[in-house]
Amino acid sequence: MALPQQRPILITGGRVIDPANGRDGIFDVLIADGEIKAVDQSIPAGSLDGAVRVIHAGGLVVCPGFIDIHTHLREPGFEYKETIATGAAAAARGGFTTICAMPNTDPAIDNAAVVDYIANRAASVPARVRVFGCVTKQRAGRELADMEELISAGVVAFSDDGDPVYDAGLMRLALTYSRDLGVPISNHCEDHELCPGGVMAEGWVSSRLGLAGIPAVAEEAMVARDISLAELTGGRLHVAHLSSAGSVAMVRQAKERGIPVTAEVCPHHLLLTDAWALGGKGDPNVAAGPLAYDTYTKVYPPLRTETDVAACVAGLADGTIDCVATDHAPHERVSKECTYHEAAFGISVLETALGTLMSAVHNGDVSLPTMIERLTTGPARVLGNGLSQYTALTPGTPADLTLFDPDAAWTVDVNQFASMGRNTPLDGVELRGRVAATIAGGRLVFEEPAVLNKGETA
Ligand code: DOR
Repeated sequence: MALPQQRPILITGGRVIDPANGRDGIFDVLIADGEIKAVDQSIPAGSLDGAVRVIHAGGLVVCPGFIDIHTHLREPGFEYKETIATGAAAAARGGFTTICAMPNTDPAIDNAAVVDYIANRAASVPARVRVFGCVTKQRAGRELADMEELISAGVVAFSDDGDPVYDAGLMRLALTYSRDLGVPISNHCEDHELCPGGVMAEGWVSSRLGLAGIPAVAEEAMVARDISLAELTGGRLHVAHLSSAGSVAMVRQAKERGIPVTAEVCPHHLLLTDAWALGGKGDPNVAAGPLAYDTYTKVYPPLRTETDVAACVAGLADGTIDCVATDHAPHERVSKECTYHEAAFGISVLETALGTLMSAVHNGDVSLPTMIERLTTGPARVLGNGLSQYTALTPGTPADLTLFDPDAAWTVDVNQFASMGRNTPLDGVELRGRVAATIAGGRLVFEEPAVLNKGETA
């Protein structure tokens, strides 16, 4: 991201929540030359030379920009689903200033040339783009990719996401290298043998709809295997899109035993259940309505039960789960306008993430500072702190910030998305919590005037 600079920005009167500096209170923030210049109780605009854009942020939260360590940008190879530019624009609308591109592209990100290609394509988009490299060549699960080459090219972690590293011996090797290379292996934990043809969570809803189920144990069996391998090797295991109560319990226990494991959870696994496939947008009174078989609910890992949702929320609150990650998985229309069995797995998440996550805050299950920690310092820590310069509102550091109204109610309208992926079951659903502005590298890359105006009048 190397965009031309804009005039300085003074943000006044917002609730600054800056977990890295332990700050939560009403402050002014001054931004110039791409950096945070000052955070103070009062910075008079009149004291500043030259033209300054003043943003009155009364009633808004001002925090470090969100980091997403799990974004499918689809480029190269699937530009009809998303491009790096449209994915970055969606990130900006969602309050994300750093996103990590997943390697299930075509070609897959298994060599330095593809990493360079993405870096070039990302040079002038409105978000910082970091890259995950493949664990195995072509994500085929047979032979390790050249991890050292990929690290030299700048990858920040490894994953075969979309597919697991299926071969336990290869996973052992990858974790061994990860220990020495100092980067995590993010595994998509799914034992295919336990869910042949599965399209949604195994349970009463899959029975009612007559759809092949995916039992929670398909995830949990591989989480258990990987924790054992992390213990054996000392390698850095990161559990991608963790979604079941059993997985949360295993990660909690592994951490207590000092095993080097981290985990992420997606916004949809913190709110939606398998009942959404019945077509009633989660309404338990809709046994199977006319909109049943809603393919927009098809995602891997699948939406599960209320018990799983509650366990994921509790795990995020108590730190068992280190961070939120979107698994933003944009798909073109025809991939979803088909039968449930044929539909692609995945939800377009970047632009609904904050509103979805805020439900756990409004319910009192996760405090607002904790939620912000899980979107900023949490993900940076998973990657080993190479991103920590972007996670604190400290003078002298790059100015990546998100401003949002925690209470603003709004209705999701996919036609407003910057993402090419309009595939979300949340279309038409009211959420509470909306991004007002996103600042990346000192530049205002997104603003929502209706929400920002609240600050102007507060
Ligand atoms: O639902 C999903 N979609 N889960 C994944 O792990 C991959 C992703 C995709 O690439 O579409």
